[in-house]
Amino acid sequence: MGIHKVHWEDLRSYCQKLIEAQGVSREDAFIVADSLVDADLCGVESHGVSRMAIYLKRLETGVVSKRSQVNVEKEYPASMALDACNSMGMVTGVYTMKRCVEKAKENGCCFATVRNSNHYGMASYYVKLAADENMVGVTGTNAPPNIAPWGSSKPYLGTNPLAIGVPTTNDPMILDMAPSVVAMGKVILAAKLGKEIPLGWALTKDGKPTTDAAEGVKGSVVPIGGPKGYGLALFIEVLCGILSGAEFGPHLNNMWSDFENPQDLGQFFCAIDISKFIQVDRFKTRMEQMIAEIKALPKNDGVDELFVPGEIEHNRRRERRKNGIELSDIVYEELRELGEKSGVPFLI
Ligand SMILES: NC(=O)c1ccc[n+]([C@@H]2O[C@H](COP(=O)([O-])OP(=O)(O)OC[C@H]3O[C@@H](n4cnc5c(N)ncnc54)[C@H](O)[C@@H]3O)[C@@H](O)[C@H]2O)c1
Repeated sequence: MGIHKVHWEDLRSYCQKLIEAQGVSREDAFIVADSLVDADLCGVESHGVSRMAIYLKRLETGVVSKRSQVNVEKEYPASMALDACNSMGMVTGVYTMKRCVEKAKENGCCFATVRNSNHYGMASYYVKLAADENMVGVTGTNAPPNIAPWGSSKPYLGTNPLAIGVPTTNDPMILDMAPSVVAMGKVILAAKLGKEIPLGWALTKDGKPTTDAAEGVKGSVVPIGGPKGYGLALFIEVLCGILSGAEFGPHLNNMWSDFENPQDLGQFFCAIDISKFIQVDRFKTRMEQMIAEIKALPKNDGVDELFVPGEIEHNRRRERRKNGIELSDIVYEELRELGEKSGVPFLI
């Protein structure tokens, strides 16, 4: 199998053009392409350009709206309830987090729910927007069922990710995690690449541990910490699905197989203005002290360096911006074919 190295800006501009070719505006296509390529830069390939084919197919079939629109259904000084009108998840996500930041500057914080939305990719993308504005950023999304409630083998909850980020004097510190041992996207990608998965990632549809990625895709992923991961997935679902008025759990439509009905995903976004609690510089200096103290702790045998959440992804982003993103044969060919289909010159 070959590996193809591409420059991140070329890849972003190619993906943007492919999305524009579906009738999406230049600005909105840029946001989606930027988020996908940023996931590849960070090493979150499961939520990167390997998703282009399904995103384009959903636009083409009209099951996702090409024209993004957000209706404000309820608005108070520190909260918003939004209807995403079946827009692309990344476009609504960026809009909502930016509005939360604006309102948090006025009122200290803002919490927003979004219903009638679509897949929004890598959750850290949105909290970074808040952290870059000296805010604490938090977001979560629901997703179709891939986690079985503890004690069952029947998936009911999505691998609903939670991301939280804060600024420091350097890169923001960002935790972005699914409440499962791995995101289902990683199992899907392994199945696509014909690779085995480690034991402990997924269960077959009969609840048996498996290393066969294709069987794992048909079954479920294992929640972190047993009932605790299940509980976390459940409460993210409450905030994203129940509170927003979106669909929830098994009532969400599948992105990969249902091209008739919108997904009606729910998301939440929150921005908290640090300056309303402590001087921003002092917050950042204290963060730096904490990070330095953690990184200076004694290391276990075989550990070269201690990291804080998000650090590995920031390091990868810098390295890949400089040296290029490596795409597998399968993803590279898929992207080339998408260009051929819509008349967009490949990676130019
Ligand atoms: N949109 C969706 O429906 C959806 C669903 C599930 C997951 N996702 C996305 O998938 C991505 C992957 O999720 P995941 O749970 O597999 O993430 P992961 O297991 O790769 O990482 C989880 C977190 O752990 C941190 N981390 C990893 N190694 C570390 C170390 N050695 N020291 C300190 N911190 C470390 C990372 O920085 C990250 O914040 C996320 O971006 C998530 O938002 C999206």
